[in-house]
Amino acid sequence: MKLAYKTNFGKLYQSTVESFFNDSLYNKLRGKINLIFTSPPFPLNRKKKYGNLQGEEYLNWFKSLAPKFKELLAPDGSIIIELGNSWEKNKPTMSILSTKSFISFLENGGFILCQQFIWYNPAKLPGPAQWVTVERIRVKDSFTNLWWMSNTEKPKANNKNVLEEYSESMKKLLKNGKYNSGKRPSEHNIGDITFLKNHNGSIPSNVIIAANTHSQTNYQKYCKENDIIPHPARMPYDLPKFFINFLTEPGDIVFDPFAGSNTTGSVAEELKRNWISLEPEENYINGSKGRFGF
Ligand SMILES: C[S@@+](CC[C@H](N)C(=O)[O-])C[C@H]1O[C@@H](n2cnc3c(N)ncnc32)[C@H](O)[C@@H]1O
Repeated sequence: MKLAYKTNFGKLYQSTVESFFNDSLYNKLRGKINLIFTSPPFPLNRKKKYGNLQGEEYLNWFKSLAPKFKELLAPDGSIIIELGNSWEKNKPTMSILSTKSFISFLENGGFILCQQFIWYNPAKLPGPAQWVTVERIRVKDSFTNLWWMSNTEKPKANNKNVLEEYSESMKKLLKNGKYNSGKRPSEHNIGDITFLKNHNGSIPSNVIIAANTHSQTNYQKYCKENDIIPHPARMPYDLPKFFINFLTEPGDIVFDPFAGSNTTGSVAEELKRNWISLEPEENYINGSKGRFGF
């Protein structure tokens, strides 16, 4: 484990997750991590740039991580794993490998599934290309899954920390106080008193909409200036931001074992959470420095 750099709140180690498990740091961190937030190499049925494992081999590797991650969590800690959809090689059919890998991980770790989220990326390029843009027999695959797990049914979480801005019509309602209360066709009875209370924002849903285009400008500029190939699978800033705000407090520890361009670490830094990240590839580590103004 080589310390690649450190900041006010965190450290990035050049390491695989396997080396980390054999390091004394792993023992030191047992029971202390408040949030593991990560996007592991995806279970592809073909090789991608950073050498993903394939098929059953992937599933077995991925599931073997679960008991190790479990040990790291604080008693009320959470783990969020982002996993994309997988497709069969050369076929217009989806593979269940991604879902199977997740279920094996959940079961092997003995985790509780708190909630499923999806990240919808409206700017996602059409793919799988052959079936979507050439033959036009499938539509764009434009979301990934984020699985929220814990060792407890009630991990630390507060949706008041991730409220969304009220819609214009709701703001108007709150201002003029007039609302057509009563029974809805859905049989829901809308009483005006509770509905019109200002809660400082609306409760978000489990569909997170974020394009992967903005907030990356400085990173890309830094990579260009320093002749670094940008990470091909960066997540948008808004993804870790949502979960770090929702599931942790300032001073907590956020861990990303597959940091890539260290989006998680940079968001944690901004939100004043302590963070630890791992990434084995030097090129990605060098690019990630651009997120911290090195
Ligand atoms: C999907 S990417 C993460 C992208 C990241 N969320 C971001 O926003 O840049 C997965 C990363 O895991 C790294 N990786 C692959 N195998 C690994 C291993 N055994 N241990 C740790 N990291 C690994 C890859 O180099 C890659 O950068």
